[in-house]
Amino acid sequence: MLMVNGLKVTYAGVAEGLRGVDLTVEEGQLVTVLGSNGAGKTTLLRAISNVLNAFNGVVTAGAIDWDGLNLVRTRADRIVSRGLIQAPEGRGIFGGLTVEENLRVGGFLRSRAEQRHQQKRVLDLFPDLSDRLRQHAGLLSGGQQQMLAIGRALMADPKLLLLDEPSLGLAPKLVDDVAAVVQQINQAGTTVVLVEQNASMALSMADYAYVLENGRVSLHGPGAELRDSDEVRRLYLGQGSDDEPDEDTDPVFVGNKEQS
Ligand SMILES: Nc1ncnc2c1ncn2[C@@H]1O[C@H](COP(=O)(O)OP(=O)(O)OP(=O)(O)O)[C@@H](O)[C@H]1O
Ligand SMILES: [Mg+2]
Repeated sequence: MLMVNGLKVTYAGVAEGLRGVDLTVEEGQLVTVLGSNGAGKTTLLRAISNVLNAFNGVVTAGAIDWDGLNLVRTRADRIVSRGLIQAPEGRGIFGGLTVEENLRVGGFLRSRAEQRHQQKRVLDLFPDLSDRLRQHAGLLSGGQQQMLAIGRALMADPKLLLLDEPSLGLAPKLVDDVAAVVQQINQAGTTVVLVEQNASMALSMADYAYVLENGRVSLHGPGAELRDSDEVRRLYLGQGSDDEPDEDTDPVFVGNKEQS
């Protein structure tokens, strides 16, 4: 189980990244973190992975515990080797490397046999990638790059997978594909923390959801409950609380990032 308590993060000694966040993720759950631009979603994932120092950020208060491991005090590489893997925001892949090389980077801590096993699993999930193993990753389409970023994280066979806006910039059909893959990964036994601005997608599959606003949790509850709450519908799902849901509206987003 992952437990975040009273977490505060400051960047460069001044900018407030998080102002006191509590969050719990039970083993096997799919938990989503919603919020608009600058709410602190990426900061929360960076803190859990203990990579804030690379961004000039520091935890100034609070605790993060994962199955008895104090993540604030554990080196990032040890956290990774224990099976907590973060897939970066957007398309954080190595464009100059091939698809296969990218996957190998993700599995570098695993034995050769495990790597082969995981690569097969990844390519089964993403058939598009299996036709392009020797292609430079930078030449993939945006959606394929996002799939590769998730695939690379899966190569490490994570126990806990942190995904930072995997639907960012994807066409609706691809958003559905990503959602299906995330659900499959979760159902195969991986605990998932899914950061999203696409609230309708994330809430449709989350066991539990948190809404971050300005570095604090403003709302939390079971995914279905939040999806039905008047406040979430009004603020994040683009539906008036008194109105019937409008079936014709385009997918709506918690923030203001645009789809391409
Ligand atoms: N490296 C940094 N240096 C200084 N401030 C930062 C840094 N990274 C983030 N921040 C600040 O911390 C706050 C939270 O940012 P964060 O990136 O966590 O938001 P987010 O919810 O992921 O937003 P987005 O949806 O745009 O990705 C913002 O006010 C941001 O300006
Ligand atoms: Mg972010």
